[in-house]
Amino acid sequence: MKIFIDSADIEEIKQVYDWGIADGVTTNPSLLKKAVDEKKSDDTDLKSYIGEILRASKGTPVSLEVTSKKAKNMVLEGVMLYRNFKSYSKNICIKIPVSPATKEDSKVHFEGIKAIKELSDRKLNVNATLVFTPEQALLAAKAGAKYVSIFVGRMDDYIRQKNGLKASREEYFPAEGIAKEDRMLEDDGVVSGIDLVSQCVEIIKKHGLKAEVLAASIRNKRQVREAALAGAHIATIPFSVLKDIIKHEKTSEGIKKFYEDTPEEYKKLLQ
Ligand code: G3P
Repeated sequence: MKIFIDSADIEEIKQVYDWGIADGVTTNPSLLKKAVDEKKSDDTDLKSYIGEILRASKGTPVSLEVTSKKAKNMVLEGVMLYRNFKSYSKNICIKIPVSPATKEDSKVHFEGIKAIKELSDRKLNVNATLVFTPEQALLAAKAGAKYVSIFVGRMDDYIRQKNGLKASREEYFPAEGIAKEDRMLEDDGVVSGIDLVSQCVEIIKKHGLKAEVLAASIRNKRQVREAALAGAHIATIPFSVLKDIIKHEKTSEGIKKFYEDTPEEYKKLLQ
């Protein structure tokens, strides 16, 4: 499974590439806002800042999202993103919401799919985002998306919310779902965010589709393991979780003892 960092914070991105574990970067408008509000000094313009992210990503894919709701405008924005940033990296991936419809504007449901198809036909790499059903994943994959981003943590949040369960963002939600009063809590046959990943992987494999399943909205390290076990091709992981996945108390305890026990003579052999 490839590991992407889900961040627009340049220091975090550089750090994770320095660790040698990053295969790509995903951003979204909320992550960019956070990074810009927190980090960007007044004299750095956003174009250079994004350019810095692209340079730090060393030619691996970086997803940048569009903001329009009409396919035509999403395509124009996608092409603009590619044109504006291709001098920094050729591996730009245009992030398109699988459906840009909102409660207030419900007439644009298929605009995302249309834009995915058009950009993919023009040979631009597309990351179909905000996928919450296997059917959406199927449509995005059929439209030519290179990646389909499944929002694991937000699906868990949604199942909890529909059933009046309270939990912190990071709290573990079992991949196999939660039973309550003899029934599984679910959303239209999906019992957890990781179950959604499994179902999407199965559909994509069964039908020989080319899209890669990208597990996004990852909130804790156990979800990273479960995304890998579910067959996700990629997990995009926030910095806080990436820092956490290497840790185990017994590893730290073991290495302390090895250091203490090392014979002086052996240390000399290593110099
Ligand atoms: O990868 C999508 C991600 O940035 C959303 O994560 O934790 O806000 O649901 P989250």
